[in-house]
Amino acid sequence: MRTKAAVLYTPNEPIVIEEIDVASPRRGEALIRVLSAGVCHSEVHVIRGRRPAPLPAVLGHEGAGIVEDVGPDVTAVKPGDHVVLLWRTPCGRCHFCATGRPALCEESAKAGSAGTMPDGTIRFSKDGQPIYHFIGPSCFSQYTVIHENALVPIPNDFPMPVAAIMGCGVITGVGAVVNSAKVPPGSTVAVFGVGGVGLSAVMGANLVNASQIIAVDLNPRKLDWAMALGASHTVNASECDSVKAILELTDGRGVDFAFEAIGQTAVVEQAFDATARGGMTVMIGSPRPEAQIRVPARIMFGQERVLRGSYYGSTRPYEDIPWLVRLYRSGRLPLDKLISRHYPLDEYNEAVRALEAGEVARSVLDIMPM
Ligand SMILES: NC(=O)c1ccc[n+]([C@@H]2O[C@H](COP(=O)([O-])OP(=O)(O)OC[C@H]3O[C@@H](n4cnc5c(N)ncnc54)[C@H](O)[C@@H]3O)[C@@H](O)[C@H]2O)c1
Ligand SMILES: [Zn+2]
Ligand SMILES: [Zn+2]
Repeated sequence: MRTKAAVLYTPNEPIVIEEIDVASPRRGEALIRVLSAGVCHSEVHVIRGRRPAPLPAVLGHEGAGIVEDVGPDVTAVKPGDHVVLLWRTPCGRCHFCATGRPALCEESAKAGSAGTMPDGTIRFSKDGQPIYHFIGPSCFSQYTVIHENALVPIPNDFPMPVAAIMGCGVITGVGAVVNSAKVPPGSTVAVFGVGGVGLSAVMGANLVNASQIIAVDLNPRKLDWAMALGASHTVNASECDSVKAILELTDGRGVDFAFEAIGQTAVVEQAFDATARGGMTVMIGSPRPEAQIRVPARIMFGQERVLRGSYYGSTRPYEDIPWLVRLYRSGRLPLDKLISRHYPLDEYNEAVRALEAGEVARSVLDIMPM
């Protein structure tokens, strides 16, 4: 069938919004009518050529929609179900899936890097030429095909824009705090970079009753949003030395947990320097492929410091998405405040500009009507 989609052909050139073809779902797959899709910085790394991906590709990895049709042997969802789309497709059988770490699924990583469905083939094309998938969802498209293991059903009356941002930014930020770092109540926390992901980490730290939540950014607008979402202090890193400021706010000790949600290794090093003895520094931001982190080995050793990555919020998505739904509904996760703007699919290039200009916390593309 035909679908209108946002296709990236060449890094640093405008994304083309055009009609392409999408094939029917095969065994274990579903056809989704996409309603909402969030604009995350991870795609922008690809658009700017900082991160490799097979091209041309239908972009979009944070989305929600309605199951339109299913291929043979699908049991997890049925037509009419409302679903969150995941950008990892747990195979359920590899070492990492089997030991409760599906965000690290080996099979999913392979298909994600290859730009294919889990079976190694492709459903999008234009004039007979293949167009790759982008890490699974490819949800900047009116219709997409995705494996059933990458779908999590949600209640039919749940707001689609909120469901969409749960699919990446929210679970990544909240999950980094709750799943990856397992921050205990009363801890002190700093979050470097409070865009969509960092603000979600602030909300996660609030959720686990951190005693101090210090938001660090260069953009005062982002710092205001961080305060509105539960930060206790802000540090504008364009005006001062953020490490010094955090040490001052924590009686010279540093924070128990520091999160980096930008993708700059220099800031990961700052986060490490702002962490207390026995503390943990968590890298959420997506670094360039060639980047290296330097930390003082003697301090790492003598102060029992931990430096770790957090990928997709270390999510166990079939548990975490329903848990986020309940938290939102009980008013404990004010995700509406994260959505600054809505755009039609045709204006994706403008949405990218606004994200890079720091004008939005998160924006959402309204892809199809209900
Ligand atoms: N770990 C994962 O699985 C995962 C998932 C999603 C996104 N990401 C990555 O997380 C990062 C953040 O994504 P996002 O969508 O929130 O982006 P964003 O653009 O919304 O937020 C980035 C924020 O960092 C701030 N910033 C930039 N340089 C800074 C500096 N030197 N010091 C302090 N603040 C600075 C910006 O002002 C902005 O507020 C990206 O690298 C993205 O690729 C990782
Ligand atoms: Zn993302
Ligand atoms: Zn697996």
